[in-house]
Amino acid sequence: MISPRDPQRATDAATATTVTVIGLGPMGRALAGALLAAGHRVTIWNRTPGKADDLVAHGAHLSHSPAEALDGARVAVSCLVDDDAVASVVEQASGGANLKGLALVNLTADSPARTRVLADQLATHGITLLDGAIMTPAAAIGTGATRILYAGPSQAYDDHRDLLAAFGGSAYYLGEDMAAAATYDVALLSLFWTSIAGLTQAFALTRAEGLDTDEFTPHAVAMSKLVTDLLPGLAADFAAERYCGSDSATIDSLAASLTHLRSAFSHSGLTTGVLDSISSLVDNAAHAGHGSDAPIRLTEHFSRQDHDFSRVQ
Ligand SMILES: NC(=O)c1ccc[n+]([C@@H]2O[C@H](COP(=O)([O-])OP(=O)(O)OC[C@H]3O[C@@H](n4cnc5c(N)ncnc54)[C@H](OP(=O)(O)O)[C@@H]3O)[C@@H](O)[C@H]2O)c1
Repeated sequence: MISPRDPQRATDAATATTVTVIGLGPMGRALAGALLAAGHRVTIWNRTPGKADDLVAHGAHLSHSPAEALDGARVAVSCLVDDDAVASVVEQASGGANLKGLALVNLTADSPARTRVLADQLATHGITLLDGAIMTPAAAIGTGATRILYAGPSQAYDDHRDLLAAFGGSAYYLGEDMAAAATYDVALLSLFWTSIAGLTQAFALTRAEGLDTDEFTPHAVAMSKLVTDLLPGLAADFAAERYCGSDSATIDSLAASLTHLRSAFSHSGLTTGVLDSISSLVDNAAHAGHGSDAPIRLTEHFSRQDHDFSRVQ
């Protein structure tokens, strides 16, 4: 888990920072390991004991309570299952620790709304939240492949960006909107998982029809590349609210295509759940009078109030 110190990244004793890491799941362990590998002085705490042996062997100081781990700390990194867990750990610490002036770099994934609430909860203890979203797996931490998004007070980011460089790869500061990193995280993961859902149903169909996956895969790659190529133009249309449909791409033509696709899946003995969700959106947009608009107009049909979940047949 802890790679040998890279002389390029290693911090000398004069610039080493004392930092606490709260949470030793797969990601917390990787973060603590990268901080140690970069030469920082790392204090660690985890709710369940027994996950710290490797880190302690590499020089981490193990705390036995949140209060001990956070008392008087200037900067800490939290990486827990969700922001309720982070708030609960801070509450536990607040009884016996001086938390005033702490900058908490919270790399826990949660919703934009929950992130704003956490920022307010932490402020009551004199803690500044710098929120972060890690867009790469634990194995990437400490390598050039890491991608982390940050949001919150620019002063907190500027104060700690050198420390955060220990995680490697690319860091992106999105600005002072506390929920920006959490919003990007949810948006990008929804893009990722709906793409994977599309891929799984494509594979299911080819297998149901007895076709070879290896032969199909290059065509799936080409189709994914088409989406990637279209993306900047669609983003420009979305930003400019340019919804004019072309002959071949309207919400009505998408509805017709989805009818055909759902029927094909059914005839192959497969469920149509993923396609049904898209049909629900498309039917609501057509019902609202947007049938001749471009499919990017669907972006206006995600409001829960406007959505009639019963319309899909
Ligand atoms: N793993 C990845 O590759 C990856 C990639 C990107 C982002 N992330 C994000 O990183 C965060 C951490 O992920 P993870 O993979 O390390 O594991 P995880 O299973 O999401 O979180 C495990 C950590 O949360 C702690 N925890 C859970 N409930 C708690 C509570 N009520 N009070 C105190 N601690 C609590 C666990 O402590 P115990 O050991 O005591 O259970 C453990 O330290 C998540 O938000 C995840 O979405 C992870």
